[in-house]
Parts: sequence; C-alpha cells; structure tokens
Amino acid sequence: MSTSAAIQGKEIFDSLRDDLSAIEREFGRDTVSGVEAITEIGEYLREGGGKRIRPALLLLSSKLFNYQGRGAIKLGAVVEIIHTATLVHDDIIDDAVIRRGRPAANTQWGNSKCVLAGDWLYMQAFKVAVQERNFRILDTLIDLTQQMVEGELLQMEKLGKLISLDEYFDLIFRKTACLFSVCMRMGAILGGASPKEEEGLAQFGRDLGMAFQIVDDVLDLTASENVLGKPVASDLREGKVTMAVIHALERCTPQERQAIETVVIDRTFDSVSHGEILGILKRYGSLDAAHDCAMQYASLARNSICNFPDGEIKRALLWAPEYVVARQK
Ligand code: IPE
Ligand code: IPE
Ligand code: MG
Ligand code: MG
Repeated sequence: MSTSAAIQGKEIFDSLRDDLSAIEREFGRDTVSGVEAITEIGEYLREGGGKRIRPALLLLSSKLFNYQGRGAIKLGAVVEIIHTATLVHDDIIDDAVIRRGRPAANTQWGNSKCVLAGDWLYMQAFKVAVQERNFRILDTLIDLTQQMVEGELLQMEKLGKLISLDEYFDLIFRKTACLFSVCMRMGAILGGASPKEEEGLAQFGRDLGMAFQIVDDVLDLTASENVLGKPVASDLREGKVTMAVIHALERCTPQERQAIETVVIDRTFDSVSHGEILGILKRYGSLDAAHDCAMQYASLARNSICNFPDGEIKRALLWAPEYVVARQK
C-alpha cells in the first residue's frame, strides 16, 4: 500500500476510534451467554481482532448525514457479529486451521460447538437489531443473511468445477459484497437518507465489496500466511476457482488447463505445485487482470458517491476503495 494511503487510512480509523471502541464494548456485551462455551467462543473471536472494515463503513455512512444516535454503535456491532458468525461457519466448511493469525475456533472447540456458536451469534445479532424497531433494517438483514448462506451453498456446489466469470461475480456478491452494501445502506437508513442517496451508498458498498473479495482471492494466491493471518493457496486446494484462475483458463493451453483442473479436482498441490500454477497465472497476466478488475470496481464505487457534498466523511469514503485494492491483508 502506498504510504499516503496508509497515513490517510490511519487518520480515518483514528477519527472513528471512539465509535469503534464503543462497538467493541457493545460486541463484548452482546456475546455473553449463560452457556460458557458460547461466551468463550464469542470472546475468542472478538479478541482475535480483524480489520473492522464493515462497522467502519456503517459508521461513515451514518456520519455522512450527521447521525448522532446510538443506533450506529448497535448496528456496527450487529454487522461485525454477523461477519464473525459467517467466518466461524466458513472455517468449518473450508476446514481452515488459521484465522487472524491464530488457531481457527473450530480447531479449539471442534466443529459441532462452533456450528452452534455461529447460529447463536446470528440470532444474537438479530436480537440487537430488533432493538432499533425498524422493519426496513430487519428486512435488509434477513435478506443479507439468506444471500450469504446461499452464496456459501452455491460455492460448495461449484467446488472442483471450472466456473464462468458471471458465476464467480454472483458468488462473491452474495458471500461478501452484499454485506458491504448492507453496512452502507443501514448507515443511510439511520441517517434518514433519501431513497436515491441510500441506493448510491448501497451501490458504493456493493462495488467496494466486489473489489474486496477479488483482492482477497488474489491475496490467497500471492500472499504469505504470516502477513495474511490465514492459510494461503487455500482456494485451489479447497476446489475454488477464483478470478485470476478463470482469466488464465480462458487463455491457456490444454496442458495448462489440465494442470489447473488436477489441483481443483485432487484438492492438493501434490502433482502440480503452487509455483506451477502461479507460473501459468503470471504467463497470462491473470493476477494483474484480477487486480485491474478490482480497481475498476473501486472506481465504480467512488463514482456512486460523487454527488454527495464534499467533506471529511466523503473523503474518508473515497479513500476506502483505494485501501481495499492496495491492502496486503
Ligand atoms: C474475511 O473478511 C472474509 C472475506 C470476506 C474475505 P476480512 O478480511 O474483513 O476479515 P477480518 O475481519 O479482517 O479478519
Ligand atoms: C469469505 O470467503 C466469505 C465469507 C462470507 C466468510 P473466503 O472463504 O474466501 O474467506 P476466507 O478467505 O476464508 O477469509
Ligand atoms: Mg474460507
Ligand atoms: Mg479467501
């Protein structure tokens, strides 16, 4: 990431610091249960950190309308709790061992307890959201949760298959971009935005989320586990074909195609190495192409909010797409 982007980012997170701390406390209070395992798992996940980008977006969206109420703290915790629940379930489904630089919860408590803790977290998020007494917010969250679950399910059905770019975009919208969009939309609802303003912000979140997942998928291929805090090269090993791989498949030789197919079908790098796959992707400029696609989404995101009046908050939102495409983790 460029130094100026990093400095701006730090400035923005500093300006949200008090609100983000309040969201941490809200998250902590919200995830206490009479059953110890749930509280322990909730606490373990919260402590594990994470970028907190979703609550930050919700805060910024509400602040664009100078919203001052407690709702943004509550709903900030709600979106982070939903995100946490999806990660717990995702790590079980993906059989992941590392998350946020430490053992994934499933390796500590086992799959069964983690499935239930994830369910509990979902319901708890709704319990907090209901306090807003706003049906539009509930509708939005219900639709979101179904989209995310459908996304994971569709992804599961496509494992080991060479999917098209359209199928890929549909998947990443559901599993990731939808939540980004909902964060922006809920900030707008709290702030009393007009329907047009709300749509603009939701579109911003959607495109930002698309860029975010495309970058996540590139980092899975190129980053190191140390920096990323989660296993790398895991998508292919899980049978998942992502943007750069789809780009290469549309251009490569039958032998290269065979090599890629071998990895996603066998789900190991035993016969074809990670290096060989990277070689193919580099030969066709596929990693750059995926990165360029993320930049295009980032630029679409910026365009969606160009009609809002200039100011500190808009500046922060305009910076987010740059952060997302430049991030290393
Ligand atoms: C991980 O999200 C799941 C994806 C949508 C790729 P983040 O990269 O935001 O995870 P944390 O919260 O920062 O750990
Ligand atoms: C994340 O997909 C989608 C979620 C909604 C959890 P990934 O499977 O790519 O996420 P990571 O890479 O495990 O964080
Ligand atoms: Mg995963
Ligand atoms: Mg990933």
